[in-house]
Amino acid sequence: MCGIVGVLGSHEVAPLILESLKRLEYRGYDSAGIATVNAGKLDRRRAVGKLVNLSDLMVHEALPGKAGIGHTRWATHGEPNVANAHPHRSGPVAVVHNGIIENFRPLREELAAAGIARESDTDTEVIAQLTRHHMDQGMDPQQAVGATLTRLEGAFALAFLFDGQDNLMIGARKGSPLAVGWGEGEMFLGSDAIALAPMTDRITYLEEGDWVVVTREGATFYDRAGQRVNRSVAKIQLEQTRVDKAGHKHFMAKEIAEQPSVLGAGLTHHLSADGHALAFPPEVDFSRCDRVTMVACGTGHYATQVAKYWFEQIAGLPCDIDIASEFRYREPVLSDKGVGIFVSQSGETADTLAALRHVDGKLAFTLGVVNVATSSIARETDVALPILAGPEISVASTKGFTAQLLVLLLLALKAAHDRGRLDDAGLAAKLAEIKMLPGTLAQALDREPEIEALAHKISAAQDVLFLGRGVMYPLALEGALKLKELSYIHAEGYASGELKHGPIALIDETLPVIVLAPRDALYEKTVSNMQEVMARQGKVVLISDRAGLDEAGAVWATLAMPGVSDLIAPIVYAVPAQMLAYHTALARGTDVDQPRNLAKSVTVE
Ligand code: AGP
Repeated sequence: MCGIVGVLGSHEVAPLILESLKRLEYRGYDSAGIATVNAGKLDRRRAVGKLVNLSDLMVHEALPGKAGIGHTRWATHGEPNVANAHPHRSGPVAVVHNGIIENFRPLREELAAAGIARESDTDTEVIAQLTRHHMDQGMDPQQAVGATLTRLEGAFALAFLFDGQDNLMIGARKGSPLAVGWGEGEMFLGSDAIALAPMTDRITYLEEGDWVVVTREGATFYDRAGQRVNRSVAKIQLEQTRVDKAGHKHFMAKEIAEQPSVLGAGLTHHLSADGHALAFPPEVDFSRCDRVTMVACGTGHYATQVAKYWFEQIAGLPCDIDIASEFRYREPVLSDKGVGIFVSQSGETADTLAALRHVDGKLAFTLGVVNVATSSIARETDVALPILAGPEISVASTKGFTAQLLVLLLLALKAAHDRGRLDDAGLAAKLAEIKMLPGTLAQALDREPEIEALAHKISAAQDVLFLGRGVMYPLALEGALKLKELSYIHAEGYASGELKHGPIALIDETLPVIVLAPRDALYEKTVSNMQEVMARQGKVVLISDRAGLDEAGAVWATLAMPGVSDLIAPIVYAVPAQMLAYHTALARGTDVDQPRNLAKSVTVE
């Protein structure tokens, strides 16, 4: 995912654009760049790596101008270097792009034949060159962009700037979000409300296929057919756009610490006023549902793996779960009484969005479990269910995961109640357990000093295994993902019972094995698995409650968790997995909030 911002301002725009790009840097940080028009002349500055490198450059090489566009890049085509950094320019045209142009190769060949040679390895370059080519043929900027858009295949959010035009920007949206910001005598473009918040709280999201001509006097919207359309102006809740660390060293630390209040907000929103019933919209009705299909990526996928246990054990509903990038290629057999649940923190993950579009019209209805209410997945599912986690800036998802789990658990209870497997009293009893979550999460957070000590014990390891059984197996997968994406230690999650079918060959005195195991009905079997590991000098780190630790006997290291019900254990045990990864990353000196090679949301397939 990349970040886009554009400003038609009444003052110098470079500092404003840099400020906006800082708020977008979580989207991608391989390179950054700004272009402005000053006294009618288009110019640009670009730098590799973090945004601070661009701001350093601009101290030495100022970029004046009251019209400008900016970009933070997560590289898809072409390695992170200056030549591949946006804005891309061809003659009088500069453009920044979030997405991927799937037909860039034939377009590149066509342009080369017209004498316009490539200057980078990117797909984006062809957008600038094609628009320039149209202008060479006599089109004005608006006509040229309109003609270019009809030639592009793939996904894009675009912002254009033109030499000689210091009161014109053109934006376009297809598959990647873009919004117009409304100022007083100033106008803006941005990837999302977070980018625009420093400048305005009035925004208009482009609809799919829209493009927009922006001047300081306002914005004119066109639909995919080129017809003028009206789009409404929304007032953004500035609280939803706060991106500060609130005194924490990292966004990740803040977002881990926010989990009790985040889940409290989710409970308040999705439960009835008295807290004894659910408050989902009436369309969320599982009474005729015969199958649930859940699709997501990464951490979201592990949340659906947990939810599969809940839907099948509590609601008695068969449940398919798929990694989004695999889903549509397996040609899933879908039922017209089935319910699709698409889980995505950003709501913009291309694989998940493509999976959603694949099921269009083939299911009874689709639900979006999302954190961004204005996102593509929120807009395209039949019912968007907010997880209310607030902006999640750190690339590693933490509060997003537990907030997703809460909504999925409540949905499983809704399904059980709709299907008569839970009566009102039974539902109220389950909800009473779930309402313990904010307090229990706070108790889990209090274990941070012990978790930090554990992190130092494992931080030198080359490999780490995570084990879990039953509903804790997906937590092992999530714990491994957190550790590998933050500390760069190779980590794998396994079902405890699977160890002896091969992975046990990895066990020796150098290998920490993290066991996530509350004292539940499967605990004895997990203790056996731990014995198998210790018999081969493996270093078992047992994360359990007091009863479990007492029963397990001596292991290499332990962490005592608060006693929790089986129902909420998967949510509570996410905290030690998150904190272990966080402190291991600190110990290893990796970039906690912006780990190498990653981006917050992957908007390309
Ligand atoms: C989670 O820590 C990762 N950053 C990543 O796996 C993420 O969960 C995945 O890319 C899905 O993102 P989404 O929830 O925004 O769709």
